[in-house]
Amino acid sequence: MEIIIQNTPQDAADIAASIIAKLLNEKPNAVLGLATGSTPLPLYKRLVELNLDWSQVITFNLDEYIGLPRDHSQSYHTFMWENLFRHTNIHPSNVYIPDGNTADIPKFCADYEALIIEKGGIDIQVLGIGTDGHIGFNEPTSSLASRTRIKTLTQQTIRDNARFFGTEEEIPHHVITMGIGTIMEARQNILLAFGENKAQAIAEAVEGPIQAINPATVLQMHPNAKFFLDIKSASRLKRKEYYNWVYSNKPEWQKF
Ligand code: PGA
Repeated sequence: MEIIIQNTPQDAADIAASIIAKLLNEKPNAVLGLATGSTPLPLYKRLVELNLDWSQVITFNLDEYIGLPRDHSQSYHTFMWENLFRHTNIHPSNVYIPDGNTADIPKFCADYEALIIEKGGIDIQVLGIGTDGHIGFNEPTSSLASRTRIKTLTQQTIRDNARFFGTEEEIPHHVITMGIGTIMEARQNILLAFGENKAQAIAEAVEGPIQAINPATVLQMHPNAKFFLDIKSASRLKRKEYYNWVYSNKPEWQKF
């Protein structure tokens, strides 16, 4: 695991963006796993500024609410097109986002898994983290080997996301999410977390035991996982100085 701590969310997101930009330059048909929520916004802003060539890029989103119309203002379909895709030259047929209105959820999920494999697997998966440690919408006690499937949101996540919907009543209680096993198969995972409200989940994910009660802890088992943090989300890490020391001592060839 690499822990990269920057003063501001934008500083951290800019470094994460440079890693994605390098991938797209080296592999124009790269497969990206993408996330939604407030956290990836500075990353997407920077990626748009970099004016990259997305013409062959394939994307798979982590999750989607069940039952929201695709064009609902809070669907992750809308989020992705508004905040990233419409500012790029990505081909709409290369964009995969779970269909929250599918008639057959288990079949859809199995097909989504098969499609990720068919497209060559995910090169870089972008992740946020919930205040409860969820990645994707894999809530606490999700199997660490889980695959794409339906999940029920925790009441905590519903409260956290009420800010987007206005009221808790409007938030669907069910979602389709890539599983933790699916996320672990990405060749690289880039997790972003900003703000004091993520500090506890981050401290557990980085320095706590691996446990399903905080799904992000599983990333300790991933061979290429990077956490991009601002000083607030990093505030409860005990070994902060060490992570900063490692980052500032990176050999030249290893720098981002
Ligand atoms: P947020 O959500 O970026 O809106 O804080 C993160 C998440 O739930 O994974």
